[in-house]
Amino acid sequence: MRSLAERSLDRDEILGWLREESPERLDELFAAADSVRKARVGDEVHLRGLVEVSNYCRRQCAYCGIRAGNSAVARYRMTAEEVLACAREAQDLGYGTVVLQAGEDPGIEAGWMAEVVRRIKAETGLAVTLSLGERDEDELRSWREAGADRYLLRFETSDRALFERIHSPAPGQVRSDRIAQLRSLRQIGYEIGSGVMVGIPGQSLGSLANDLLLFRELDLDMIGVGPFIAHPATPLGSNPLPLPPGAQVPSTEAMVYKVIALVRLVRPDANIPSTTALATVNRTNGRELGLSRGANIVMPNVTPVRYREKYEIYPGKACVNETAKACAVSLEGRISAMGRRVGAGPGGRYS
Ligand code: 5AD
Repeated sequence: MRSLAERSLDRDEILGWLREESPERLDELFAAADSVRKARVGDEVHLRGLVEVSNYCRRQCAYCGIRAGNSAVARYRMTAEEVLACAREAQDLGYGTVVLQAGEDPGIEAGWMAEVVRRIKAETGLAVTLSLGERDEDELRSWREAGADRYLLRFETSDRALFERIHSPAPGQVRSDRIAQLRSLRQIGYEIGSGVMVGIPGQSLGSLANDLLLFRELDLDMIGVGPFIAHPATPLGSNPLPLPPGAQVPSTEAMVYKVIALVRLVRPDANIPSTTALATVNRTNGRELGLSRGANIVMPNVTPVRYREKYEIYPGKACVNETAKACAVSLEGRISAMGRRVGAGPGGRYS
């Protein structure tokens, strides 16, 4: 039988690993993921500077702290000059990519964003990743034409019934179809990224196995997974309704490592971040453990500190008070201590 690192996993095997509890067996899984990571994407860890452009959002996602219904959030939207300053800072820190993320904010107009993208490309040459929620196809096209390279949109779960339970449309809003949007982003010419939360109340092990198969089917370039973290000001934070134990995916650090390793095995060439949510549930070495079990990307925050605490999608987010510079220095140290190195250039799937 071919080794775990060489074989294409089927659904039953994926499920077996998700249920696996033996530390020795899990070490085999992690070692296989680490060796595939090394063989396919190398020892470089690419850093993407994350800019949280706006925390306005028209959606009502039941897990998310910046959902439209959370009136306790003080809303902000950065100016174009502020976004540009963050991009320059990312460039000064040696990052190859800037990620512009926001709530699904209609106040971010298509023409405004296209101009921001054009200026970042002209002034810094950085790769630009957008993560702005579900937007109209003509807007997505105009941003691609302006030079945006990649688009991130997590589908959160492939279980349609669960998806609808946690994403009830606001009055007058169309139902979401993030999987259809990912397919059209690919057609438009973006590198595409997606991912899921691990341990959403109501998420079954079977549906998580399906999520992994869908990562493969969608041919994703980037795949981010992190633990669900309950936010008290959201419906899922106050009234979670999980499945019975045994069926429910736990939102634990241990489960996230299994999923990261499995993602590497099902999508060997993908860029996989060791996420901030993971670093939040294990501040000591969550990032490092993610990087040693399949991940090859970190997304340090370059948002001005005064805005960061307002972008509270879940509570206790790691790095909220660190300046971009301090964060960069500490990351480089951690990465070289692992025998890895910070990657130069955009670090895309094709570059
Ligand atoms: N816990 C963990 N991750 C969350 N996200 C949003 N809310 C939470 C939460 N409460 C994740 C979603 C979203 C990404 C930007 O952050 O997966 O796509």
